[in-house]
Amino acid sequence: MTFRYANGVPTSTENATADILKAAADPKVISFGGGLPAPELFPVEKMKAAADKVFDKYGQSVLQYAETLGYPELRKQIVKLMHDRDVETTFDNVGVVGGSQQAIDLVARMLINPGDVVITEDPTYLAAIDVFNSYGAKMVGVEMDEDGIKTDALAKTLKEYPEAKFIYTIPNFQNPTGRTMTVERRKELVKVADEAGVPVVEDDPYGAIRYAGEFLPSLKHFDKDDNVIYLSSFSKVLAPGMRMGWLVASKEFMAKFTIIKQNADLHSDNLTQYIIAQFLEDNDIYAHIKKITDVYEHRANLMLQLIDEKFPKNVHHSTPEGGMFIWVEVPGVHTEDLFKECIKHNVAFVPGSAFYANAGKDGTFRMNFSNMNDEQIKEGIDRMAKALKVVMPK
Ligand SMILES: Cc1ncc(COP(=O)(O)O)c(C=O)c1O
Repeated sequence: MTFRYANGVPTSTENATADILKAAADPKVISFGGGLPAPELFPVEKMKAAADKVFDKYGQSVLQYAETLGYPELRKQIVKLMHDRDVETTFDNVGVVGGSQQAIDLVARMLINPGDVVITEDPTYLAAIDVFNSYGAKMVGVEMDEDGIKTDALAKTLKEYPEAKFIYTIPNFQNPTGRTMTVERRKELVKVADEAGVPVVEDDPYGAIRYAGEFLPSLKHFDKDDNVIYLSSFSKVLAPGMRMGWLVASKEFMAKFTIIKQNADLHSDNLTQYIIAQFLEDNDIYAHIKKITDVYEHRANLMLQLIDEKFPKNVHHSTPEGGMFIWVEVPGVHTEDLFKECIKHNVAFVPGSAFYANAGKDGTFRMNFSNMNDEQIKEGIDRMAKALKVVMPK
């Protein structure tokens, strides 16, 4: 049987990303390619205690169907987490989702008709590009620098595409670049978006895992017109396998979102919501986050120091203050050639071209530092340095 697939379904199941993941999955390969948190930091015992308590306290009710926007106690906890992030919101503005990935998908489903323009940072999160493409969006990338998206270029793009459906941005420790948008740019972004009447989708899965520099208020903090839809997640601060995230938006948006979420899955996993709410009640989440950020700071600094020592001198890298990624630029090198050479040396990364909305920039790649221990980082960088020697133009 040949199915007549909908337009959003890719015509081929083979793509560069699948090939990369396959190559990197070989146990001999040291992979800086994935985006996985460090599993040894998952709070297994505390989560187990929370789960036991939930079953003892609530029994059958946690296994029942439940409210579409989420378990009320968890939504109240999220209002508190948002307050800690300098965003005052209410229970009615919060919806629980199956990871921020589901929020990206449902927001895209609500806003994109085929052919609509979506503005993103260039480069941006690969799986968001895939989602927006699946709804038939026309993607327009806006250049970034070390301070985040260039807001003057964004203002120009908004003039060119006044009918754009939304701007998708990751202000903190961006995936893939690890860069953080400055406060000035945050204010400016909200201002130009408001003036253009184009909503902003602020994706913030990494903001809480800052290990250096100052806390910066989110775009939602500066949002006076209810123009920002804020997404975040428990994936990087607790555990990604639990698939729990949230979205904060205007009441009008949430009313419609409720119907779309219902269509997708009725509600997010009730049991997991109870367990996370119990965990948050019984534990200091910030003490747990500190354990994560201490390890990530150490790994990031080790990787950066070794890149500086062992990679060629003309290599440029970002210096993240949190999150999980470093962005590397190697002028003159074809990243695909470097990738093939690295695989021969049993080390992997993600070539940068995958992260661009339109034409990818050669000579760029993303390295993950959260998921490898010191020995793996040292050995992996040595192997990459050898591969770089082979492919660097002489
Ligand atoms: C920028 C960005 N947004 C969203 C997600 C999805 O995260 P979640 O596990 O919350 O669905 C990721 C995951 O890596 C990400 O990097």
